[in-house]
Amino acid sequence: MLPRPLLLCLQGLLLGRFTQACPPPCQCYDGTKVFCSGEEIWDIPEGLPGNATQLFFVETSLTTIGSGPFSNHSSLARLVFLNNPSLSLEAGAFGEWPRLTELEVSGSNLSALSGEAFGSLLELRKLSLTFSALRALEPGLFNRMPGLEALHLQGNQIEALPPKIFSPLRELRVLDLSHNPMAQVPDRLFDPLARLQVLKLSNISLARLPLGTFRLLRRLQELSLDRNALADLPPGAFSGLTHLRRLQLQHNALTSLRPYIFSCLPSLDFLNLEGNRLSALPAGLLRGTPKLSQLFAASNRLETIPEGIFSNLFQLQTIVLSHNRLTHLPAGAFRDLSSLTTLQLDHNNLTALAGDTFHNLTSLEVLDLTGNRLQTLPEGIFDFNDYLFGVAMKDNPWVCDCRLASLASWIRNWSAPLNSQTFCASPDHLKGWALPALPQEQLVCLAAPGQADSSLSPGEAETGRSPCTYSDPEGTVQLTCDAAACHRLTVHLPPQRALTGQGPAYDSDWVLNSSCGRVKVSVAIRAEPGVTAREEEALSHNRRSEP
Ligand SMILES: *[C@@H]1O[C@H](CO)[C@@H](O)[C@H](O)[C@H]1NC(C)=O
Ligand SMILES: *[C@@H]1O[C@H](CO)[C@@H](O)[C@H](O)[C@H]1NC(C)=O
Ligand SMILES: *[C@@H]1O[C@H](CO)[C@@H](O)[C@H](O)[C@H]1NC(C)=O
Ligand SMILES: *[C@@H]1O[C@H](CO)[C@@H](O)[C@H](O)[C@H]1NC(C)=O
Ligand SMILES: *[C@@H]1O[C@H](CO)[C@@H](O)[C@H](O)[C@H]1NC(C)=O
Ligand SMILES: *[C@@H]1O[C@H](CO)[C@@H](O)[C@H](O)[C@H]1NC(C)=O
Ligand SMILES: *[C@@H]1O[C@H](CO)[C@@H](O)[C@H](O)[C@H]1NC(C)=O
Ligand SMILES: *[C@@H]1O[C@H](CO)[C@@H](O)[C@H](O)[C@H]1NC(C)=O
Repeated sequence: MLPRPLLLCLQGLLLGRFTQACPPPCQCYDGTKVFCSGEEIWDIPEGLPGNATQLFFVETSLTTIGSGPFSNHSSLARLVFLNNPSLSLEAGAFGEWPRLTELEVSGSNLSALSGEAFGSLLELRKLSLTFSALRALEPGLFNRMPGLEALHLQGNQIEALPPKIFSPLRELRVLDLSHNPMAQVPDRLFDPLARLQVLKLSNISLARLPLGTFRLLRRLQELSLDRNALADLPPGAFSGLTHLRRLQLQHNALTSLRPYIFSCLPSLDFLNLEGNRLSALPAGLLRGTPKLSQLFAASNRLETIPEGIFSNLFQLQTIVLSHNRLTHLPAGAFRDLSSLTTLQLDHNNLTALAGDTFHNLTSLEVLDLTGNRLQTLPEGIFDFNDYLFGVAMKDNPWVCDCRLASLASWIRNWSAPLNSQTFCASPDHLKGWALPALPQEQLVCLAAPGQADSSLSPGEAETGRSPCTYSDPEGTVQLTCDAAACHRLTVHLPPQRALTGQGPAYDSDWVLNSSCGRVKVSVAIRAEPGVTAREEEALSHNRRSEP
């Protein structure tokens, strides 16, 4: 149905001025535009200005339009019926209007249309018969409108089209047949439409595309085949469509794509494959689409992407691979994508990313890694992404240790709000902490007592940044120091006793060993009125070093 705001907008446009010769309840503007609306309108009002060029009937109770009422309106250029739920047409309803260029009927009760409904409409450029109950179009319906440029038939109940119905429409630029239960398109149906630029076949229950369906549509720029039941695309389905810029294939049942299916689409800049059942993409799939700038392939079953699939796509700006089953990305997957601004890899099964994965993405602004199985990211992974301002990382089992330290600092600086729900999964004592909220000094790598920490990279060890970590084998206390100072103490107390009254509530000593030496830690907790237990714990530990 027509969106309400449009109605209001039309009203606003036409409310401006009244002229005397306007039959109530219609409103006339400039004597040339007439707007009639209201459930009390059962018939076309008499006495409409004879020189009107635009007539609108909106939300009326009109039931039929016969041949009579408009016979004097020879200057009519635009006739619009919006949301007149009982309206149907009689033969000859739209008579001989030499100047009519636009006829729109939307939200009506039209169920069948014969050629007789229309007279000779030689100037008609746009015909819209949408969201009504049209079941069939008679052969020859468009024979007397040779200049038609746009035909909108979306949202009807059309099940079949006569094979030659579009033959007279040599000038047609836009054809929309979406949202009809057609289930099939006759062979060669579109062959006469040599000038067609936009073809919309969304949601027409299409399970099969005949070979060569679009073969003569050399000027086609936009093709929508989304929301159908296509499991396969015939070979060469899009060949010769050298002007095609947008191709919508989302929400079909495609399980695989032929390697050369997009091979000659030099103008293609938008491709949507979302919501199919693709488990793999052929390596050369995008070799013939050098202008591609938006690629949507979310909600498929991809486990990886072939090496080099994006090579030479220097204009690619957006890749969406969300909600697949990606476990890894090949080396150099994004090698040539210097224009890429948005990369969505969320809700996959990625466990690790190579340190240079994003290095060539010098325009990258947004990266989504939400919902994978990443535990850590290599240091410096975003070093070359100068424009990156958003990295979403939540719902990954992050190991919050020294390897994430510089990334955490980066996130605090650039992406904190986006990551307020990015929680650590380990180590145990940091579980549930939000990464941006974590003090930097908590991100350390724990070494086993008396040993260097094997999880540290050689670079870190050489630069002397390796922290010494003293740790009680039972894990009740950990102390992290570097050569100069100790900066983190974690104490796990035994199950809480009632901390009532004055005096010591808890008291214990540990002797901890590490490669940096031996340290004695004493913890004493006193309960004081008016101070919560947590503050108490922080206030009262003290420690002594044993050289
Ligand atoms: C249309 O007719 C009305 C009333 O006869 C007149 O006032 C108006 O100027 C005419 N408009 C045009 C554009 O001829
Ligand atoms: C058409 O115009 C003629 C002459 O002006 C007039 O007699 C007739 O009533 C008009 N018809 C309609 C449907 O307005
Ligand atoms: C639409 O037309 C059918 C008959 O063609 C009729 O039964 C139905 O009541 C009409 N609906 C409305 C809303 O007028
Ligand atoms: C598909 O078309 C049918 C009418 O054929 C309509 O009822 C339905 O809402 C449409 N679905 C979508 C997702 O647009
Ligand atoms: C991710 O991988 C695990 C282990 O291989 C598997 O059990 C799980 O089903 C995968 N998840 C998805 C969404 O593919
Ligand atoms: C970055 O681009 C250069 C030059 O094209 C290439 O040699 C290198 O392998 C690319 N690096 C990555 C990580 O893709
Ligand atoms: C974050 O900001 C702080 C202070 O402005 C700066 O010292 C630090 O280097 C920044 N971290 C990163 C990774 O950019
Ligand atoms: C540290 O070393 C001392 C002496 O070698 C030993 O008594 C103590 O149990 C060690 N402590 C831990 C936590 O291993």
